[in-house]
Amino acid sequence: MTNKLKHIAIIMDGNGRWAQKRGLPRTAGHKKGAETLQQIAKAAADMGIEYLTLYAFSTENWKRDKGEVDYLMNLLRQYLKSELKEIQDRGARIKFIGERQMLADDIKAEMSRIEKETAGNNKLTLCVALSYGSRAEIVAAAKKAAELVAKGSLEPEQLTEDMFGSFLYTGEMPDPDLVIRTSGEQRISNYLLWQIAYSEFYFTPTLWPDFSAKELEEIIADFNSRERRYGKV
Ligand code: IPE
Ligand code: IPE
Ligand code: MG
Repeated sequence: MTNKLKHIAIIMDGNGRWAQKRGLPRTAGHKKGAETLQQIAKAAADMGIEYLTLYAFSTENWKRDKGEVDYLMNLLRQYLKSELKEIQDRGARIKFIGERQMLADDIKAEMSRIEKETAGNNKLTLCVALSYGSRAEIVAAAKKAAELVAKGSLEPEQLTEDMFGSFLYTGEMPDPDLVIRTSGEQRISNYLLWQIAYSEFYFTPTLWPDFSAKELEEIIADFNSRERRYGKV
């Protein structure tokens, strides 16, 4: 029997190493990586995947060299203005999660525009984690719950796992069934800590710019062969 696969989350890692292996600047890896992002989003839409969440930039990534951060922000600008159009045209709803206040005003405006324009689409939900950190997300959700209690509109005993989950940036989205990390690193790097409680993991040595729809299909086949027990026997 195949597992139900609604939501895939990917940690797109290894752009810098891909470039370094070729004697290119790290930014060349980001450029190629952005093309891979587009290909994989299209493939996911064509494969009928309902939710794809991509880790594009973490809160910790702000600590990189200014040159690299500026390059990534400009790449993002370009994608928001034009490149995401093709994915939108495939009927995808685009959503962003993360700490927006750290992003430039024009980028924030484009993000809101795209979210609004695609809100009615119902094929793939492409969720892009941008300036995202899971611990910050959990703290923000805890603050929301605390505010409701302080206002008197929530009793502490009424707070359930489902309600707390709805306070996260991922709100109404189902939890990821499968988390993929490229580049051979076997860690989570502050990604979706609450949401991955029962996700299956797949670590591939492929560097993100070399990742392909074919490999995604192979990983899904592996996922389908697994037994998910959720603590039962
Ligand atoms: C992932 O590739 C993209 C971002 C984190 C923005 P890296 O830039 O982390 O590439 P490596 O891990 O240094 O190879
Ligand atoms: C995680 O990759 C973040 C993204 C892929 C956007 P990093 O390259 O930043 O993670 P670490 O530093 O290896 O943990
Ligand atoms: Mg990395």
